[in-house]
Amino acid sequence: MQTDVQKLQTVLNQAVENARQSSERGQVAQYIPELAKADPQKAGIAITLDSGETIGAGDWQQPTTIQSISKVFTLALCLGTMGDNLWARVGREPSGSAFDSILQLEHESGIPRNPFVNAGAIVVTDAILATYQPKEALGEIVRFVQGLAGDDQIFIDGKVAQSEEDTGHRNRALAHYLASCGNLHNPVEHTLGVYYNQCALTMDCAQLSRAGRFLAFAGTLGPNRQQMVSMRRARRIAAIMLTCGHYDGSGDFAYRVGLPAKSGVSGMILASVPGIASIAAWSPGLNQSGNSYIGTQMLEYVTNEMDWTVFS
Ligand code: DON
Repeated sequence: MQTDVQKLQTVLNQAVENARQSSERGQVAQYIPELAKADPQKAGIAITLDSGETIGAGDWQQPTTIQSISKVFTLALCLGTMGDNLWARVGREPSGSAFDSILQLEHESGIPRNPFVNAGAIVVTDAILATYQPKEALGEIVRFVQGLAGDDQIFIDGKVAQSEEDTGHRNRALAHYLASCGNLHNPVEHTLGVYYNQCALTMDCAQLSRAGRFLAFAGTLGPNRQQMVSMRRARRIAAIMLTCGHYDGSGDFAYRVGLPAKSGVSGMILASVPGIASIAAWSPGLNQSGNSYIGTQMLEYVTNEMDWTVFS
């Protein structure tokens, strides 16, 4: 579908302008010291269209780690190698609890609710390690994301990965609990080593919006239609993004923005408008559910102005 690019650019500029004027900005994540240094005044948004063109506004060219958005890419990679067998180890239901909650795991015998809560993502990474050694697995993940984005400059921020490893008691607790239930097949430190590094994949909004194109365009990369993920799989991943991508804030996000999307604790959000656009928004301050406060506001403004939703 043809998008009015000029109108879209005006809308993006206004979304960032509104963001700059907002006095409420949320709270920057504190539990990973390297992330706590982020400036909550930053705000950027980028959109990649079906034509392959990427446009943006604000701080859309400033790289940051994608954190939990990496879970979308590892899920796609994992389903590509082990297919539906993954669903014996992870559910597909919204959790209604925080991204790092340990409570449900005990009630549900070590089967995480979905692949986007930390416990579920740790199982997905562990499943990838069935095929690869940790270093190879990480290489595969990076190459996969670079291939999706068409950009071999995408890298891992080792400082952020190390910062998370140094303070990662909660994820260690989750991983050990999974192991005690028989749902972690590799040494805790191997799986978490890969997990911390995938979370530290670093991109700007333009790169992320390009890496997420396969979700908006039926598993393909825009104009040349190269099939990266099967159409059905891309659709299903988007369904899990809609229902679980914002944790216990998923309902509110669907109500306000109306698109499948995944958030990261760095303040990035990846969203897709089927057949039309892939969007990445960034602002580091988070709401109570750990999702970007201003990022959600910018997306709400853009989707309202452009009349983009999966609900009509
Ligand atoms: O495992 C963690 O806590 C982080 N590396 C990722 C969490 C995250 O991004 C949650 N999303 N809003």
